[in-house]
Amino acid sequence: MSNLSGFKRTHNCGELRADCIGETVTLVGWVHRVRDHGGLVFVDLRDRYGTTQVALNPQIDSGAHKLAHSVRPEFVLIIRGKLSARPEDTINKKLKTGEIEVYADQAEILNTSKTTPFVIDENEEPSDELKLKYRYLEMRRGPMLSRLVKRHKLYMATRKYLDKNGFLEVETPMLTKSTPEGARDYLVPSRVNNGNFYALPQSPQLFKQILMISGMDKYFQITRCFRDEDLRADRQPEFTQIDMEMSFVDEKDIQDVCEGMVKAIFKSVIDVDLRSPFPTLQYREALEKYGTDCPDLRFGMELSNVSKLARKSDFKVFLDAVSSDGGAVRGMAISGGASFSRKELDDLTTEAIGYGAKGLAWIKLTDGAYQSPIVKFFEPKVLDEIKTSLGAQDGDLMVFVADKIQVGLDVLGTLRVSLGKRLNLIDSSQFKFVWIVNFPLFEYDEEAKRLVALHHPFTSPIFADKDKFESDPLSIRARAYDLVLNGTEIGGGSIRIHEKEIQNKMFAALNITDDEAREKFGFLLEAFEFGAPPHGGIAFGLDRVLAIICGTDSIRDVIAFPKTQKATCLLTDAPSCVDKRQLKELGLKSEIG
Ligand code: AMO
Ligand code: AMP
Repeated sequence: MSNLSGFKRTHNCGELRADCIGETVTLVGWVHRVRDHGGLVFVDLRDRYGTTQVALNPQIDSGAHKLAHSVRPEFVLIIRGKLSARPEDTINKKLKTGEIEVYADQAEILNTSKTTPFVIDENEEPSDELKLKYRYLEMRRGPMLSRLVKRHKLYMATRKYLDKNGFLEVETPMLTKSTPEGARDYLVPSRVNNGNFYALPQSPQLFKQILMISGMDKYFQITRCFRDEDLRADRQPEFTQIDMEMSFVDEKDIQDVCEGMVKAIFKSVIDVDLRSPFPTLQYREALEKYGTDCPDLRFGMELSNVSKLARKSDFKVFLDAVSSDGGAVRGMAISGGASFSRKELDDLTTEAIGYGAKGLAWIKLTDGAYQSPIVKFFEPKVLDEIKTSLGAQDGDLMVFVADKIQVGLDVLGTLRVSLGKRLNLIDSSQFKFVWIVNFPLFEYDEEAKRLVALHHPFTSPIFADKDKFESDPLSIRARAYDLVLNGTEIGGGSIRIHEKEIQNKMFAALNITDDEAREKFGFLLEAFEFGAPPHGGIAFGLDRVLAIICGTDSIRDVIAFPKTQKATCLLTDAPSCVDKRQLKELGLKSEIG
């Protein structure tokens, strides 16, 4: 066998076409598949650009043929030979390189491979655990690779668009002080200052405001954020934000820039032309209609408050709810649900109870008649009014939750999304954006028994509400906005407070004392005293945007090295124990082991 060590690849495995036929080429790559056709042995050679069929012919080189019998999937090969046209009947139209093959007259194994724990094939899905443990092998499969290519395009499109619009990318520290974003911090002990800790940033919030005070005017950063919170499909302990801040702007300016950026991203990554401006929904209206501030607008099934009509019935469950403090009866129409069997209705009720309801009342609408054990409690006229209120059609099922307002909204909102998916009401090719605006500035935390900021303590109240801090803080609306796409919050931000007096009122309402404020973010408050411009911003969850673009449910699928649900890395086995000596240097003692 001839030695190929002096050769470098002339082409990658995805680029050869018929116009190069006759050329002598050198290829390197991984053995994707081996097929022995008696005389000829075919190897599909793969790299990240594609696969090329290589024929090893014993008539040309008996060494190459012998080698062909020893290669196994995932061996690394170098081959050299002539590019030929495939015989007419073996042309593969699905493959970009399907018209050609390389007749190797030299081949060499650069490295062998153990049998891989799963087949490297885009049609064979390994278990989640194997995908994470052998992430490098998972990346050799097509789907993960194509998502990482999209991720790269997303970075490039974002940077290009923001650069064109005058934004400067500035890095902010990873070892910093804890910022009040609401989640738990990841702490890093200091060796030089024993007993003190850095926090990994939950977001660059305070630094980007300081950059506005520095006169940066338009800042952005594609940056990692760290939050020690309970994980879900769309939450990772470390995730990436497209973080932005601008001076001398209002909500509209920020939303315009964001819409332009999102449009540039969709065009560049998946060649989709989005229409703007995106629609806007008041926070209250989103809750009333969809039971959530992240509504999926790809389908209808809006909720309706039927408390007034419930009062006209004799149904005790409804009457009890509407006569209690903060109680209501809410319903929605499930399209085609009149055909549900008894068991399906029972399962639906169990599902609703699982979301927190006490039960689920239902009425079928078939051939113009109402059918349910509870219709006897209603006058026909009232049933007609309920039907109109829910927008129900013949063939639908009307369902109701009688409970505290928030419980009814939560249960029906969750049921709506679950049914939308189950009943195939969602057109997955659609991208439905909506801005949610006019959030309340505060919400009441039942556990802590105090007000908490719905966004963060630097969010400005709307001007008309700024005098209600003492009289009616819960009615104050915030200059905050979220961008929601297909039922997922992909971004959120606000116009910030830049006047010291309002900031102090905010802290007072949140029960943050002067001392605490000084200790936690004194540096920001001091900076505010040196000519802070009015400013505002937003941050996008890059992983969430990309997951939706890629049509995947979990942001894990768009992150090269993600963590499990239990915040562990199966590839490296992080987190792990450390040496006692390391702890000592840091002035720490572990109570475990
Ligand atoms: P917020 O906390 O809303 O705002 O975060 C902005 C966006 O980041 C995404 N996101 C996450 N993605 C994955 N995993 C997580 N654990 C996670 N947490 C949040 C969401 C969210 O919309 N500093 C403010 C922004 C501002 O006011 O400018 C902030 O961080 O898509
Ligand atoms: P019951 O009076 O418990 O026999 O319930 C009659 C029907 O009302 C059943 O279908 C229950 O699932 C439903 N139901 C019970 N409690 C509620 C509630 N809080 N909201 C809506 N439906 C309920």
